[in-house]
Formats: sequence, C-alpha cells, structure tokens
Amino acid sequence: MYTIILSQDAFIHKDALQFPIEERGLQFGDGVYEVIRIYDGKPYLLDDHIARLFRSLQAIHINITMTQSQLISKLRDLLNINNMLDDGFIYLQVTRGTAERNHPFPEMTEPNLYAYIKKRERPLDLIENGIKAITLPDERWDNCYIKSLNLLPNVLAKQKAAEQDAYEAILYRENIVTEGSSSNIFLIKDETIYTHPESKRILSGCVRTAIKRFAHENNISFEEKAFSLDDINKADEMFLTSSLSEVMPIIQIDDQPVANGKRGPIAKKLQDAYEVDAGINKESVID
Ligand code: PDD
Repeated sequence: MYTIILSQDAFIHKDALQFPIEERGLQFGDGVYEVIRIYDGKPYLLDDHIARLFRSLQAIHINITMTQSQLISKLRDLLNINNMLDDGFIYLQVTRGTAERNHPFPEMTEPNLYAYIKKRERPLDLIENGIKAITLPDERWDNCYIKSLNLLPNVLAKQKAAEQDAYEAILYRENIVTEGSSSNIFLIKDETIYTHPESKRILSGCVRTAIKRFAHENNISFEEKAFSLDDINKADEMFLTSSLSEVMPIIQIDDQPVANGKRGPIAKKLQDAYEVDAGINKESVID
C-alpha cells in the first residue's frame, strides 16, 4: 500500500517528503497521533497505544493496510536501528495523506505515517514534589476520545497555564472536571480514587488504564465517576497522568493548596507501582 522509509531517526512516507505543504495533517490537522514512553530503550504500554491509534484511525475513517502487530514491529525496528537504550519517547503520526487542497477526503490517496524517537529524561523533581495547575473551561470539540492532531484548544490552555507558572490546565465543562490539556486528572477522597469515566469527553489515557490496574492490585478503590470543581476543595490528594508526566501530584490549583500541598501517600504508592510495571530500574545508574 505505501512504503515506509526507515531512516536514521525517522520513518516517513516518501510522498510526504516531496509535497509537504499539501500534507493534510498540516493543512487540516487531518490525522491522529500517539506519544509512547521509552524506558531504557524499551517502549512502555506499546500495545495499548497502538490499539488506541487504530481506534482513532477508525473513528476518522483512515484505513492503513498495516496490522497492529506489523506497526509494532516497525516501531521496534526504529528503536533498534537507532540503538536506542535510553529514556525517551516515540512520536507517531498518521495523516490522511498528501493531496491537492480540498476539504473532502481525497480519492486514491495513501495515508502518511511518520515516527521519530527522542531522548527525554524522567521529570523526577516534579514527580516527587508535585506541580501547580490552573482550571479553565474545556473548549474542545465533542470527540476528545480521538487523539486528533487538532490541538489548538489544548495549546491555548497550556499556554495560559505556562503564563501563570503552572504545569497543567485542568479543564471543566459545566463545573465537571474532564481532563487536563494533555493528561488525565484524578482526585482522592477518603482513600477512593475518582476520575472522569471513559466517554467522548476525555482521551482514554494508557497510563489512566494502568492506574486502574495498579489501584486494583493494591486494593485501592477506584471509581470512574466525574468530580466537580467544588470537590477539589475537599480533596485529600490529586494527581495527573500521562505518558510523559507519569503519575504527577497536583499540589496547588488556582493559588489554593490541594490538601496539605504535598505529595500524598496514594500518589506515592501508585508511582511505585508504575516504576515496577514500567521496569524502571533505579539501581542501574552506572557510576
Ligand atoms: N498526551 N488526555 C489528553 C488530552 C492527552 O493529550 C494525553 C496524552 C492524555 C494521557 O494519555 P496517555 O496516558 O495515553 O499518555 C490524556 C500526550 C502525552 C501528548 O500529547 O503529549
């Protein structure tokens, strides 16, 4: 169907190289993506990410002939060719293809598939000490379960957070917290973890799913039940998750501390479970 060229640090469909401005990802944001964490050269939750990518592709009617396992093996090739042994991430993007600019789906156009890997250290300081967040109205579309390239509302929300020295913008619709601009949001009250249920309002995070499993394995009650902005005042702990942020305590929201303003015990327990699950070996630092 289409050729993937494996190069030193990327694989890229050759047509996309020839006609970049008529790439539908550039002109319409007509595509989907994934960000996959790598620890010591090994991708974490890879199968979950690829399954979600295929759900996103199906939702926007992009058909690739490659199977999930073929794509997974291409990504493993990418890591091997680059001799990737460090912490980092894979960015993977699939667009509807390259065609003369016209809104409807082009006929006879093959999807473009891109991926690259990059080194990235774990945000250990923030994982331990927590982050500040702000709250903002969720101004995104109604299909947030699709990991769409259209990230303008997320970018604008994150910029507002950055302008207030905050790490994340917590988004709400009619007073109900949906998720962060690039993360899922969790609240703990009386030893129960609450988070927005899976729906079109949120992206079903791969780390979110892992957290549900860790909670179960550690006998912590986990309720997929939405909470409101008012509930934040009564929270015992809060944290966010994403492939790049892992499990990050939220210690301050809109200038108010969350509980005592420190990482809580349940967040710590989940962080420990995350490290074990991801095979993060803290002893392996070579001196
Ligand atoms: N973002 N919600 C949104 C809106 C996201 O963009 C992300 C991830 C998540 C968490 O998903 P996961 O646990 O699968 O990483 C939730 C990625 C990291 C990004 O855009 O950089």
